Amino acid sequence: MKQTAESRGALATDVRIWPVRRYVEMHRRSLEDIERFWSEQARKLDWYKTWDRVLDWDFPHARWFAGGLLNASYQCVDRHVKTWRKSKVAIYWEGEGGESRVLSYSTLYREVSRFASMLKRLGIKKGDCVVLYLPMIPELPVAMLACARIGAIHTVIFSGFSAQSISERAEETKAKLLITADGGYRRGKTIPLKQIADEAVSISPSLETMVVVKRTGEPVTMQDGRDHWLSDLLEEADMVFEPEPVESEHPLYILYTSGTTGRPKGIVHSTGGYLVFNHAAYEWVFDVREESVYWCTADVGWVTGHSSIVYAPLSHGAAIVIYEGAPDYPTVDRWWDIVEKYGVSVLYTSPTAIRMFMAQGEDIPARHDLSSLELLGSVGEPINPEAWHWYYRVIGQERCPIVDTWWQTETGGIMISPTPGIESVPLKPGSVTFPLPGVDAAVLDYDGNETRPGETGYLVIRKPWPGMLVDIYGDPDRYKESYWSQYPGCYYTGDYAMKDEDGYFWLLGRADEVLKVAGHRLGTTELEDAAVAHPAVVEAAVAGRPDEVKGEGIVLFVTLKADEQPSTELEKDLVKHMRQTIGPVASPDEVYFVGSLPKTRSGKIMRRVLKAVAAGASVGDMTTLENEASVEEVRRAYEGLRKAAGD
Ligand code: PRX
Repeated sequence: MKQTAESRGALATDVRIWPVRRYVEMHRRSLEDIERFWSEQARKLDWYKTWDRVLDWDFPHARWFAGGLLNASYQCVDRHVKTWRKSKVAIYWEGEGGESRVLSYSTLYREVSRFASMLKRLGIKKGDCVVLYLPMIPELPVAMLACARIGAIHTVIFSGFSAQSISERAEETKAKLLITADGGYRRGKTIPLKQIADEAVSISPSLETMVVVKRTGEPVTMQDGRDHWLSDLLEEADMVFEPEPVESEHPLYILYTSGTTGRPKGIVHSTGGYLVFNHAAYEWVFDVREESVYWCTADVGWVTGHSSIVYAPLSHGAAIVIYEGAPDYPTVDRWWDIVEKYGVSVLYTSPTAIRMFMAQGEDIPARHDLSSLELLGSVGEPINPEAWHWYYRVIGQERCPIVDTWWQTETGGIMISPTPGIESVPLKPGSVTFPLPGVDAAVLDYDGNETRPGETGYLVIRKPWPGMLVDIYGDPDRYKESYWSQYPGCYYTGDYAMKDEDGYFWLLGRADEVLKVAGHRLGTTELEDAAVAHPAVVEAAVAGRPDEVKGEGIVLFVTLKADEQPSTELEKDLVKHMRQTIGPVASPDEVYFVGSLPKTRSGKIMRRVLKAVAAGASVGDMTTLENEASVEEVRRAYEGLRKAAGD
């Protein structure tokens, strides 16, 4: 029997922690025999051929459900069309300007089939990569599912990224086809996606063809023979197009994310393992029923969008909401209007968005009827208890549990989170609670021993899980080095964490040189590489500083060429340059022009000093941190920087 929303939303601070017996038992059993456990989960999907072996584990490479054949688009579309769900809503799409489109599962089936047939006619084959650079319109999930239908591998590039980012990813994946739109809407303005795509194609020899979705209707240049309107191609396409069975380990997609070096990593996910994991995690975490309306507010361009908008909910036949535009357009209550309009039951968003709404005041959501909400989710960055309480009280009206879900692009799906779909877990604001069944998470100290309760350490996963990345595209050495070499036999997450005396996990931020700006992942080196590409810059260093809304902000320190002078124009130009090179997410919040950057004797930039300057910390905190540099050196560098920064 379903529990009531009231009992599901209990806080650990309100009640005595009770043993979560069903969860504990399921978790224990799952880890005793992961192969048996995951094969039980895998049976919930439709396979053309079942696997010969659940797991081939050749450290650090896993092949899940080896020998099995399936198709992701079949899981998400065809199998629902064979049931009463054919007339169920798959996607409620809300345009920024207020128009809406409703796609039933049968409509989705037709659109995906036609799109897949069009891809085939363009010569796209199984294993080819297709770059998708699209706004948040239904054509984006349709294109993803159509790629999956023919066994092509999609690489979605967030529509806020630059021509250079597109071109780097297209070249690396040798993609011949780019799918884009004439433009997209953001806060009432249009983003010239086709123009950016043109620029990308002009510097990407591999890209030969462009398919363009008409969205804004603004004039664009179409190059004869190279560029085609989607609507023209679809006219020729077949209405019925059967999915192609692919091997379980066949790549479903490549998604680029930032790491500790300058070059983003192409994270490769498989078809079978990824779907099995996401299908299971979705059920355990979101506890969605047939009548639920589920809205994940992420952009499809991030992993949250891939797993939590497209593959997991659609594999369950859920009704999802996709909103095209900005949260505060045309008015700051837009999201609450959408919740009310569609009767959203599950809202899954980021702490940055919650903090932004907090700043606007509670009377704004109070103007709307939010009584349809049953469950709230959070993802992407640690949620501070204040934001948690606000979300719980103002949005959930103290009725809805919050599932704070920890995961990564690499993990493919949710790893640590409350699991109301199994059993209600008493919640502690700011804690992601417990690992999902089948997930063997631990917090280790520097020497690899498990930390004592309350001690900070590094979060690792000790056993393979089906949603795990299968590789970094074209760089198996980096795969091994980044994830599997810090602790023997364990997957290294790069996050600090702590387990408390009740066994609850608390995530404490990144342990490496990766920033989380409004939930977006950006490597400091990636940002620095972009900054030094500016003609006036000699050296650059980036540090994160706490930001009340975004979690972290970007502070950029640069030294200039001898003939360059610091100026407001140059500062503006640098910000523009960063936006153009990476995208608007990479805009520095502050730029400091400095005479030199603090370095250790061996020439390494002392990031902790910069971090302290960025955060406005005191010198006293800094002196013991850098072993290689003398106290005096650190002090001098620190004071020099603050002076240069005009303090
Ligand atoms: O630092 C953790 C943080 O986001 C990182 C992963 O970022 P990305 O690959 O972009 O995926 C984000 C969406 C799944 C993690 O290493 N992170 C993610 N979720 C949480 C979190 N930090 C704290 N609490 C979370 N719930």
